[in-house]
Amino acid sequence: MILVTGGAGFIGANFVLDWLRVSDEPVVNLDALTYAGNLQNLASLKGDARHIFVQGDICDRELIDRLLAEHRPRAIVHFAAESHVDRSIHGPGDFIRTNVNGTFTLLEAARGYWSALEADAKAAFRFHHVSTDEVYGSLGPNDPAFTETKTYEPNSPYSASKAASDHLVRAWHHTYGLPVTTSNCSNNYGPYHFPEKLIPLMIANALAGKPLPVYGDGQQIRDWLFVTDHCSAIRAVLASGTPGEVYNVGGWNEKPNIDIVHTLCALLDELKPDPAGSYTRLITYVTDRPGHDRRYAIDARKIERELGWRPAETFETGIRKTVEWYLANQDWVAQVLSGAYREWVEKNYAERN
Ligand code: NAD
Ligand code: TYD
Repeated sequence: MILVTGGAGFIGANFVLDWLRVSDEPVVNLDALTYAGNLQNLASLKGDARHIFVQGDICDRELIDRLLAEHRPRAIVHFAAESHVDRSIHGPGDFIRTNVNGTFTLLEAARGYWSALEADAKAAFRFHHVSTDEVYGSLGPNDPAFTETKTYEPNSPYSASKAASDHLVRAWHHTYGLPVTTSNCSNNYGPYHFPEKLIPLMIANALAGKPLPVYGDGQQIRDWLFVTDHCSAIRAVLASGTPGEVYNVGGWNEKPNIDIVHTLCALLDELKPDPAGSYTRLITYVTDRPGHDRRYAIDARKIERELGWRPAETFETGIRKTVEWYLANQDWVAQVLSGAYREWVEKNYAERN
């Protein structure tokens, strides 16, 4: 079996659902259920003995030791993190705790467990660390896309904490020989995406007739990847990645934020027209994010060359599926837009002009 951390969040839940769709290997899913963790994401696994959910913190060494001893996983896939840049600006402490100290705790527990394994199990064991392209910093308009050897230049408390975790993972391989792999992925989108992030926020706000808040000039570029493609990339790395190696994962799909917002408005105009006119009327430019990275772009040639992975979805197919999913799952959105979510919206948007 495998141990997944953060499997009740956006990407982790998609990963667990996909994993159990394509294999019968059980998953122990360790998640603290912070504001971003949601068991509704895993509701379709209710009663499925292959999924063992444990509510707990990756900073809790005793708990992790116990889970490893009890379940004897052949791999750990580490998603758990604080993941939202704007929240890291308002409160960086949680990011250091979970992303840095939590990863450290998990690595130490994994090292203890792995070093006591029999030779075959020891050689086969993997610790896969899920990271982000944001560790590489911000690109100019004509800079080449990030390769795995790009210098680390993190600019936000979020990306700095993820960079720190990447360095720990690397060091645990070089110093202790722990068989780790790391993937640095671009922006994901798709089902179960928490509506604090650009794409689900714009869909939820449009459907509620609320302003669509575009930071700054809206010309910041992200490279978007449909979430199930990220899941298949992680499965490929787990199956045939080389210990100690890093794999960049991206969608070959750079787009300025304002184009994303226009695409979402056009899809909503088609699929759920608003009698008041096009959703584009709700687009509102607001004060920029401090330290806002201008452009990310991933060079995903290494994972294609070495592991034969390429995204299956184009942006056109992926974004249509995403909008359709949100339209079909309005009760999921309503449940997520709870009191705590409203407090966040107030904190993040009230003081933006
Ligand atoms: P998310 O915020 O939706 O989910 C994070 C999950 O981790 C939640 O279920 C939360 O409850 C859990 N968690 C947080 N702190 C924890 C702790 N201390 N102990 C146990 N569980 C804890 O995040 P996501 O978007 O699904 O991202 C998952 C991973 O992928 C993160 O490591 C993130 O850095 C990385 N990543 C995300 C993106 C993206 O576009 N979302 C892109 C590249 C990489
Ligand atoms: P986000 O989804 O928060 O991901 P990240 O910051 O990790 O890339 O934001 C994606 C882009 O959208 C980023 O350039 C910030 C911008 N953005 C807005 O313009 N308005 C918003 O309300 C949000 C949440 C993001």
